[in-house]
Amino acid sequence: MTTGKASNAAARSSRRGRSQGGGQLATLAGAAAAALLAVAAAWLLGGRARGPPPEITPLAAPRMKDLQEFGEPYRSEMLWGSYRSGLYFGMRTRTEFPLLTGLIWFDPDDMANPLSLRHEAQQGDRLSRYGWLKHDGRRYGVQELVDGDYSIAVTMVKAPDAAGAGYGGDWAVRLAASRSPRAAAAAAAAAARGEPPPQRRLSLLWYVLDGRLSDAQFEALPEGRSKKLGKGIALASGDHSDVGGAWSLRLLPAPPAAPAASAARARYLGLELTEEGHVPMIRDVVRNALIVGYRSSKGHFVLPNEVATPSNLAAVQLTFELPADGAASFDLVFQTQPEGAAAGPRLAALSGDGLTALIAQRDAAFDARFDGTFPIAASNADADADAAALRAASAAALSNLVGSMGYFVGESLVQLPARRGAPAAVVPNWREALYTCTPSRSFFPRGFLWDEGFHQLLLQRWDPQLSRDAMGHWLDLLNAQGWIPREQILGSEARARVPAEFVVQHPSHANPPSLVLPLAAMADALERGDYGGGAESEAARAWLGRAWPRLEAWYAWFNRTQAGPIPGSYRWHGRNETTDLELNPKTLTSGLDDYPRASHPSDSERHVDLLCWMAAASKAMARIGAAAGAPAARARAFASAAAALGALPHLKALHHDAASGEFRDWGSHTEAVALEPTTETAEGGTERTVFRRSVREPPTPQLVPQFGYVSLFPLLMQLLPPASPELGRQIELLVSEDRLWTPHGLRSLARNSSIYKQRNTEHDPPYWRGQIWVNVNYLALRALSHYASAPGPHAAAAGDAYRRLRAGLVGNLAAQYRGSGYLWEQYDDGGGGGLSSHPFTGWTALLTLAAAEAY
Ligand SMILES: *[C@@H]1O[C@H](CO)[C@@H](O)[C@H](O)[C@H]1NC(C)=O
Ligand SMILES: *[C@@H]1O[C@H](CO)[C@@H](O)[C@H](O)[C@H]1NC(C)=O
Ligand SMILES: *[C@@H]1O[C@H](CO)[C@@H](O)[C@H](O)[C@H]1NC(C)=O
Repeated sequence: MTTGKASNAAARSSRRGRSQGGGQLATLAGAAAAALLAVAAAWLLGGRARGPPPEITPLAAPRMKDLQEFGEPYRSEMLWGSYRSGLYFGMRTRTEFPLLTGLIWFDPDDMANPLSLRHEAQQGDRLSRYGWLKHDGRRYGVQELVDGDYSIAVTMVKAPDAAGAGYGGDWAVRLAASRSPRAAAAAAAAAARGEPPPQRRLSLLWYVLDGRLSDAQFEALPEGRSKKLGKGIALASGDHSDVGGAWSLRLLPAPPAAPAASAARARYLGLELTEEGHVPMIRDVVRNALIVGYRSSKGHFVLPNEVATPSNLAAVQLTFELPADGAASFDLVFQTQPEGAAAGPRLAALSGDGLTALIAQRDAAFDARFDGTFPIAASNADADADAAALRAASAAALSNLVGSMGYFVGESLVQLPARRGAPAAVVPNWREALYTCTPSRSFFPRGFLWDEGFHQLLLQRWDPQLSRDAMGHWLDLLNAQGWIPREQILGSEARARVPAEFVVQHPSHANPPSLVLPLAAMADALERGDYGGGAESEAARAWLGRAWPRLEAWYAWFNRTQAGPIPGSYRWHGRNETTDLELNPKTLTSGLDDYPRASHPSDSERHVDLLCWMAAASKAMARIGAAAGAPAARARAFASAAAALGALPHLKALHHDAASGEFRDWGSHTEAVALEPTTETAEGGTERTVFRRSVREPPTPQLVPQFGYVSLFPLLMQLLPPASPELGRQIELLVSEDRLWTPHGLRSLARNSSIYKQRNTEHDPPYWRGQIWVNVNYLALRALSHYASAPGPHAAAAGDAYRRLRAGLVGNLAAQYRGSGYLWEQYDDGGGGGLSSHPFTGWTALLTLAAAEAY
């Protein structure tokens, strides 16, 4: 990385423990294949037994995906969805070579920035807001996209079991384009002056691609081209076994204001893509076609009306005048069995007035279900947020978590260690599918292991089966050693958004086992009888039973590979022991990236957060084992591990600083470090400034004197006995404004810690060094609410801290959402403003649970 922008992007990526989308294509398949050949050759030369190494071999256990509950009719219902998380809007099938559809729009009259096509969700597009206002994860979603003068409402309705429909059923999307509030105000002002409203045109494009590419059978414009949308256009029809045979995609004008839509001018493109590597470049393909059209149409950015035979990509472009008020609306209808008996009535039900009625029904059903599931308590007298704003933000949070779920198929790249007879190498993992929540559609539109544990805390309360399905996909990623790669970059579209150097996953690197939180909650819910006595209970029990051997393997992997230097201690691996470029070498594996640890990474360090995760995981395993019907001896082994690891004397012996009452990491540490510019002469004699760490006093073994989220883990994981003075002390530390407390939530690192808000390198601004993060604040609320109801001397203090923390946190999240249009990755510990990537509706969506006081 040499340019400023690129190196900045790289720096941002590396400090996230999440790689950041760079937008450029990383064509790694070739390199990966070459590496695999090299490894295969080395294995042969080494005369080793055949078969892939254990790092890239799936765990030998029945697959979660094959559970009966994920067969029919579930599979058919879930076939279609808004599973293209990284786009503003697209639908795809949950299949390996999917049918893909997507939306593109642009301003045809913007000659200053021509062809700024909107397709992939990108922060650089600077939309004033976008996101799902409602989404149920299965059949209904409404999204609003506000882009400058445009406002585009996208409503998705699926009818998976319409009578006469084929596999996966039919679906419709209503696109309603209107002037944004800003443009509407300008039009109204013009009208008040007696002038005509300024004209505003919009170009909308919709495409469909058969992901089998050259193997596809597909006819673009089967009924010919028409210049105006008029009564409707058949965009494509084809045959695909994933949808049970014949299908068609049709575009129709929709009420209200059908005249505006009917008059929209239509242009076309049909062509054949031949390589999977082209799929992430659809936007470029369309852009090139618009440039060709510009030349032939003498100055209009229009598709060239060229339709190749055969085609596997078909696109239609509608260019139209936005009405001065109201919307120009279009219905896209995907039909299976379009020639079948009930095709006509099914089309009528999913377009025009039929669709309007269906949308109204689904919309009301969503609201009723949301209010029933998450009664938003504005119960705190001191809550800043009025209940309506809090409800709106919470409904959007849930909807975006659900509406950003993706389906990905592909291979991770895995770093194999050197072995006798085989050098170290990067090789592709086995090909796997992942159905998962994603942290951010613009920045992180793919799966992240430790984020997912938080996502599922919310999703499991909305739709337990969807949650089991997603968690099951994650557990199917376990390899023969019990490892799950922490970042899932599967398929060419996901790969295209990650710079090459962040793609490779390391089989010795962990990531917090946060999935144990929703798993334990699921086991508890089952034991309490929350799922009722019927099919849902049976499904949950069967799921836990099948998950059990996988969870045992996962736990054993942690317990073996992340063990610390002394019994009962744990250490995050993957810190760089040799670098002098970082103020405090990152611990990406912990999920907390640049949160300060021992200044000099070594095998002798031990990490309090990981010990607490292991204690929590042990306790969860005991509960899961009981609910899953595991042998009692196994469940007992985990219960005794939980008791041993979580015992206060153990925690204190390993991590407690008696003088301050703080829990701390242990390691080789000095506070006397600084990043300093040094002038270095490169080859060729050019001078440059490099920031290197200077160490003024040598490190000594000690408890690391930094106070922040890591210090809170014994409290967060609810390991402290309710009557212990240590609990009282942690609550005192938590509410101290000198340290973590702010009016908007808990900051990640104490204001008077030496590394507070320090840059880690020249290019890495602080990340977990003061900013407020919602996932840890949620854990704090959960723990405080637990201790508030546990009888003991600290219940009142816990309750008071709980109420004030909740009011500040949810109040700020709702206010920032209303003001900025987004939920954010983190929040400023000064003013509470949103920071870093947005929309970030992964764990920030825990807002909904905090608003509903569901822990
Ligand atoms: C540690 O950082 C240095 C740069 O300071 C780099 O050259 C080296 O490859 C890194 N080591 C590991 C194991 O990443
Ligand atoms: C974790 O590892 C330790 C050390 O090997 C072992 O004693 C303990 O039994 C393991 N815990 C579980 C629950 O298997
Ligand atoms: C931070 O402030 C608290 C008082 O609020 C003090 O007890 C503690 O020692 C300070 N920590 C550091 C690192 O200065």
